[in-house]
Amino acid sequence: MKSLICCDVRPQSTRYMEALALRNQILREPLGLVFTPEEAADEPLSFHLVAMRNDCVIGCLVLTPALEEGVVRLRQFAVRPELQGEGIGRQLGVYAEQFSFDKGFTRIMMFARASVMGFYLRLGYAQEGEVFEEIGIPHVVMAKTLSR
Ligand SMILES: CC(C)(COP(=O)(O)OP(=O)(O)OC[C@H]1O[C@@H](n2cnc3c(N)ncnc32)[C@H](O)[C@@H]1OP(=O)(O)O)[C@@H](O)C(=O)NCCC(=O)NCCS
Repeated sequence: MKSLICCDVRPQSTRYMEALALRNQILREPLGLVFTPEEAADEPLSFHLVAMRNDCVIGCLVLTPALEEGVVRLRQFAVRPELQGEGIGRQLGVYAEQFSFDKGFTRIMMFARASVMGFYLRLGYAQEGEVFEEIGIPHVVMAKTLSR
């Protein structure tokens, strides 16, 4: 496995802007969605994690504290298309769990795209409830309790 650095980045930093471009390219543009001013205004409320190789952001995700105490919502998980399937998502996902636990969260939940449920199942997340539609595609609630 080639070396990969996982870390959190500050909103508006160069790394954050690279991650935002990746999120737009992979998660929004194929669905005809745009990054709205309302979404932009909420970005500082979240933690922004990236995976970097050779000084380039190649994967990212967002962790947003939920209203429920101790729960954080995982969002916007994306790996550069040509590098998917190489284990980068797994490494960044594991890092996100450690990061969340260190910040005092004991549970990660998400509205996962049904197309990638298999990925989250492999990371130890469990499906909760039925498939539902959001932004025009099937989603499912998935969650994992964190422990050392
Ligand atoms: C989902 C995503 C982040 C996974 O990252 P990745 O780097 O490709 O995943 P990895 O290579 O680390 O895969 C880890 C494991 O999950 C499996 N996996 C990966 N994508 C999968 C999928 N779509 N369905 C089922 N299993 C999958 C891999 O085969 C691997 O299995 P293994 O443990 O048996 O080897 C990435 O594929 C991606 O960006 N997809 C498009 C955007 C997207 O849908 N994001 C999620 C929104 S909820």
